[in-house]
Amino acid sequence: MKITIIGAAGGIGQALALLLKKHLPSGSNLALYDINPVISGVAVDLSHIPTLISINGYSEGDITKALKDADIILIAAGIYRNPSMGRSALFNVNASVVSSLAEEIAKVCPKAFLGIITNPINMMVPIVAEIFKKVGGYDRRRLFGITTLDVIRSETFISSLKGRDPCDIDVSVIGGHSDSTILPVLSQVKGVDFTQEESEMLTRKIQQAGTEVVKAKACSGGSATLSMAEAACRFCLKLIKALQGEKNIIECAYVEGKGKHAQFFAQPVKLGKEGIESFLDYGKLNNYEKHLLNGMLETLNNDIKIGIDFVNC
Ligand code: 2OP
Repeated sequence: MKITIIGAAGGIGQALALLLKKHLPSGSNLALYDINPVISGVAVDLSHIPTLISINGYSEGDITKALKDADIILIAAGIYRNPSMGRSALFNVNASVVSSLAEEIAKVCPKAFLGIITNPINMMVPIVAEIFKKVGGYDRRRLFGITTLDVIRSETFISSLKGRDPCDIDVSVIGGHSDSTILPVLSQVKGVDFTQEESEMLTRKIQQAGTEVVKAKACSGGSATLSMAEAACRFCLKLIKALQGEKNIIECAYVEGKGKHAQFFAQPVKLGKEGIESFLDYGKLNNYEKHLLNGMLETLNNDIKIGIDFVNC
């Protein structure tokens, strides 16, 4: 299996490459692409880690080689947010980066499974979908906005509040991947009850976690890189297991679903050999969660429209 990371020299990309070099199934090939020429050195550096995973670095001009025959492509390219920016402020730069990558991918390896990490995810995923629709060969089962970071943050914060092992916490996070569009469905976490006060505090903390990192890194600039890399690695490894035939692989991701609330919506999906096998129910929301869901939809639908309009206008 060939896994390509685009933007592999950045903070997320390098950490993700390290995790995948350690944890991909033996025999995999890891392709690292970045316009930063240090990428060749990053690949050599990682190649000294003793695992049965081959690794190649590709710099500007070699995108086609990096993409050729890729089974999974993880896009982490673009700029990151600083304390004065919301995720939307990233849009202009990252939309151009992601749309030209999508055009290239649609030509070189249209069947690859795509995981989008670049923010704002709410807008980037519709851009990629729209470009694939134009070029031809769009398959919604193969396109994912990676929102696993919201899930692992939820696991972490619930675990520390309730004194539970985070591995025992199963939580769906639905909606999108920015502030109020992030909705952890706490009412459906099995075996854990929350007071209204705890639900409100946790929901706010999960929604604001990205901003907490941006503020904490303010002196040097940057947003979450290491936890994002862990989240993307987890998603990628689960996807690989599903592609290899393992059953009952369920992950939340921002995907083009059935459109009940919005054309693109983060939700639990069952993964299989062709990508998304089915869209799963996230259970019954309580009144507080219903209120948050209704409150986010205008923002989420607007984000989606901005992405679609970027390609079509
Ligand atoms: C976050 O939520 C960077 O999207 C990332 O922190």
